[in-house]
Amino acid sequence: MELYRFLQQQGFGSRKECRKLVEGGLVEVNGVPAGDYRELIDPEQVDELVVDGEIWEPASLPVYLMLHKPAGYETSHKPMHNPSVFSLLPWQFGMMDIAAVGRLDVDTTGLLLFTTNGQFVHALTSPRRHVPKCYEILLKHPVSDDLVKHLEKGVFLKDDNERIAADAVEVVDEVTLLMTISQGKYHQVKRMVAAAGNRVAELHRRAFGTLELGELEEGEWRFLTREECAAFGF
Ligand code: URA
Repeated sequence: MELYRFLQQQGFGSRKECRKLVEGGLVEVNGVPAGDYRELIDPEQVDELVVDGEIWEPASLPVYLMLHKPAGYETSHKPMHNPSVFSLLPWQFGMMDIAAVGRLDVDTTGLLLFTTNGQFVHALTSPRRHVPKCYEILLKHPVSDDLVKHLEKGVFLKDDNERIAADAVEVVDEVTLLMTISQGKYHQVKRMVAAAGNRVAELHRRAFGTLELGELEEGEWRFLTREECAAFGF
């Protein structure tokens, strides 16, 4: 592949901008300054790029990654009142049209997936796929047997005629629940808890399908492994 096309794929701008980067002497491939933008490279053999003084470890395409979302970030490219979750990722991914897989509310923390593969977004957010998502819920009022029963049996959400139930509910302590749901309705967890007679004080997504947040620190991201993608059929 020609170097400038590779740079474009990695999110360094349009083909013209990428040609200019090489012509301006601003690109190094594996430590060697690049002179010709048409130089043929094997993407698999590029371990390190330096572009305009910035080190870039090339991403395998399509990109699949997880972020530990902190509170106070909007899951939107055009946020209204808070910074965007996309500002927590390298800007090159924005140039690759990366998208979030579903949304987390501004005050929700935890596992948020991103990809440049539209089919992945569709597959994982499709109501037919029923991908389970596990949330840790800090309640405003102490947990009761009644609350757990309601969530397990199902509650009616406003503007929705169907009863909606959790796949699983586990009481962690007096004010903490783990709840798994496999739909992705708007504010679903908060609305279910409210319909069952309590309120959510804090919400954190621990897992999406078989993927768990693990040790990833708040605000940090990492690529998914091949095995993790394969678990979703990709
Ligand atoms: N349910 C909610 O209410 N909010 C989220 O952010 C995710 C699930």
